[in-house]
Amino acid sequence: EKAGFDHFMLKEIHDQPKAYRDTMLGRISDDGRSVDLPELNITPEQLKGINRVHIVACGTALHAGLVGKSVIESLVRIPVETDVASEYRYRSPIITKDTLVIVVSQSGETADTLAALREAQRCGARVLAITNVVGSSVAREADDVIITLAGPEIAVASTKAYSSQLIAFYLFGLYWARTIGAQDEATVAHILAAMQALPEQVERILSQSDTIKEVAESISHHSSLFFIGRGIDYAVAMEGSLKLKEISYIHSEAYAAGELKHGTLALIEEGTPVIALLTQEDLYEKMLSNIKETKARGAHVLGIMNEGHEEEIAKSVDRQFAIPRTLPLLTPALSVIPLQLISYYASLALGHDVDKPRNLAKSVTVE
Ligand code: F6R
Repeated sequence: EKAGFDHFMLKEIHDQPKAYRDTMLGRISDDGRSVDLPELNITPEQLKGINRVHIVACGTALHAGLVGKSVIESLVRIPVETDVASEYRYRSPIITKDTLVIVVSQSGETADTLAALREAQRCGARVLAITNVVGSSVAREADDVIITLAGPEIAVASTKAYSSQLIAFYLFGLYWARTIGAQDEATVAHILAAMQALPEQVERILSQSDTIKEVAESISHHSSLFFIGRGIDYAVAMEGSLKLKEISYIHSEAYAAGELKHGTLALIEEGTPVIALLTQEDLYEKMLSNIKETKARGAHVLGIMNEGHEEEIAKSVDRQFAIPRTLPLLTPALSVIPLQLISYYASLALGHDVDKPRNLAKSVTVE
């Protein structure tokens, strides 16, 4: 069952190259120039009529949605709001028939997400579900469904479902962008080529698990830490922070790096671990200044950045982990991997039940 791994979570982390390949399989044309999603019922005409998007989900699935927002906004150029499912349905969201509501759920059974889906449909919106379970309640009730092909996820902490949700957002974003002419064919082909390189790049990251294990073990002695990032890295920081809290029970906060100096910096003391994501080249220098702010208070910083920065970042951080180069929009599919491994090895070092963390259920079917 665990295929030789000690825990389901570790197995599922290692399943990710396959999950990426399977989720892309048959959805990219043979010439690599277009996305085909025959499962969608929404017609190109209907898609052309959509002028706003709401992405609604819970927990890790919502974090995938935060990346999805950047993907759709940058590729399709349509405004996207994201919301926690348990908040969405009680705030009278402004939904019109030209709103596309995207619900994201690994299990397809999360009660709050299902209730948000029903509320959106009641208000006349079309609902697209991204889910891992064929025949789940969410899959049955949504108007359109994109199945992630991550395979069954057993560990309570979601890993391969999250990253496969990212792949689903990339595919849908590219498909939509081409349908309305928001991107040209060459751009789409370029992004698809980079996506097809992701599985092998994930394998390269996984082969460096030992380095990450050491970082995780040193973090496990601390009671609190920060994840910081800007733009899409901030979304990934939130996922890294949730994962760590969930299975290692170490308190952490994810912060937009530029926001630290507006209060929270006071919590950084001598030795506080800070995990800083710097995968967005256009925000790299800004991130370095934010790192400096934390170092000035004694932070011990792990920088996660693109390959090629190793030498020069060494002056700014205490430790570093380089991820293979990809396109800026695709980095979450790589940068989340070391964060998953950090939470796994920290939990292991503390002797917790990695696959069944306390107080949590795999599928939350109460509101
Ligand atoms: C975190 C985790 C939860 C779920 C959330 C939504 O690792 O697993 O935060 O992501 O309960 O579950 P689904 O995706 O099944 O709707």
